[in-house]
Amino acid sequence: MLSRRPDTRPRCCKLSAVQSKTPRNASSRVSKPASLVDALLRRRVVFVTGKGGTGKTTITAALALLAARAGKRVLAVDVEARGDLAAALGMRSAGPKPQVAQRNVSVIELSNVESFQEYLNIFFKIPRLTRSTPLGRIFDFIATSVPGPRDMLVVGKIAYEESRRDNGRPVWDLIVVDSAASGHAISHLAAPKALLSLVHGGMIAGQVERVEMLVRDDRRCTAVVCALPEELPVQEAIELHDRLRAEAEVSVTACVLNRAFTVSVPAAEKRLAEALAGATHADAVRKRLGGSSQPLLESSELASQLHQKSVAHARVLRSNVPVPLVLVPLQTSRPGLATTRLVADDIGGALQ
Ligand SMILES: Nc1ncnc2c1ncn2[C@@H]1O[C@H](COP(=O)(O)OP(=O)(O)OP(=O)(O)O)[C@@H](O)[C@H]1O
Ligand SMILES: [Mg+2]
Repeated sequence: MLSRRPDTRPRCCKLSAVQSKTPRNASSRVSKPASLVDALLRRRVVFVTGKGGTGKTTITAALALLAARAGKRVLAVDVEARGDLAAALGMRSAGPKPQVAQRNVSVIELSNVESFQEYLNIFFKIPRLTRSTPLGRIFDFIATSVPGPRDMLVVGKIAYEESRRDNGRPVWDLIVVDSAASGHAISHLAAPKALLSLVHGGMIAGQVERVEMLVRDDRRCTAVVCALPEELPVQEAIELHDRLRAEAEVSVTACVLNRAFTVSVPAAEKRLAEALAGATHADAVRKRLGGSSQPLLESSELASQLHQKSVAHARVLRSNVPVPLVLVPLQTSRPGLATTRLVADDIGGALQ
């Protein structure tokens, strides 16, 4: 049974774990709060997914920083190539080749045929094509626009990066993937399985099998599901967890409730705000200092409601997603590296 850790942190960033009634993967059986950080970072590939806007990019970047702080060489992969992951890691832009963003962290964007050329060339002996040739343009179209092949290329390219060795040592200790949103991420992760049902035998089947084995290997590959303290993202996270297990056969190691309002307003502070807003003896203070105490009362009421909402959504996730839940507080710093660092501190602190 996984025990709840006493929360000694002033910002109330809590980690708690729920044991599945019927454990469906190894990680849900073995993950304890103390070992969750290891459980994540000792994998070779971690896919971060969730509904749009739930913080996939920020959590991916934060995990990359955490792993780098632990001395790992990390590749952070931006599957959608919109530049968000580079920005979250303090870079203006990345590209189809790994570029160093922070110490021990490189970023790659899987945007077009260039990202996939090396992988196709090495594993499938497909020659490098310049985009200006007619064949190159057709290939570019297939690689970027046609869902099935593109899904396979995304996960194949990630598996290729995982397989790269330098003097026998992996080029990357950890690959963290800023995956597409829910359904799309399933398509990526289930692509090898779907392709194997069509291709039997031969070089292509052999390579696809290797990619499929990586994705399904709980010791090497896992997923993190992100949610926000709102109804739809929470429902989507529950469904996504189940679909990742059932359709893609990928293990899920943690669920993140991001932008959670983790600070509760104590009853004494609520009473103080109410007294300042209403009581006659506060008139003198108001007259002397000016201003109105109404915003103070409203802020305390809002904070209280947001906290209750976060607690309620965390409870729903805990009872429906059988993996440890990590609460990441809402930050007020600027978006980009500043927010990523604070989120990394929070996750690191919560997972220690
Ligand atoms: N814990 C947090 N506190 C405050 N802001 C956050 C936090 N996590 C993420 N953000 C901010 O919320 C916004 C959305 O986050 P992010 O881009 O990581 O989400 P996403 O799931 O990758 O979105 P998309 O689906 O559009 O790719 C960003 O501006 C990011 O800086
Ligand atoms: Mg994103």
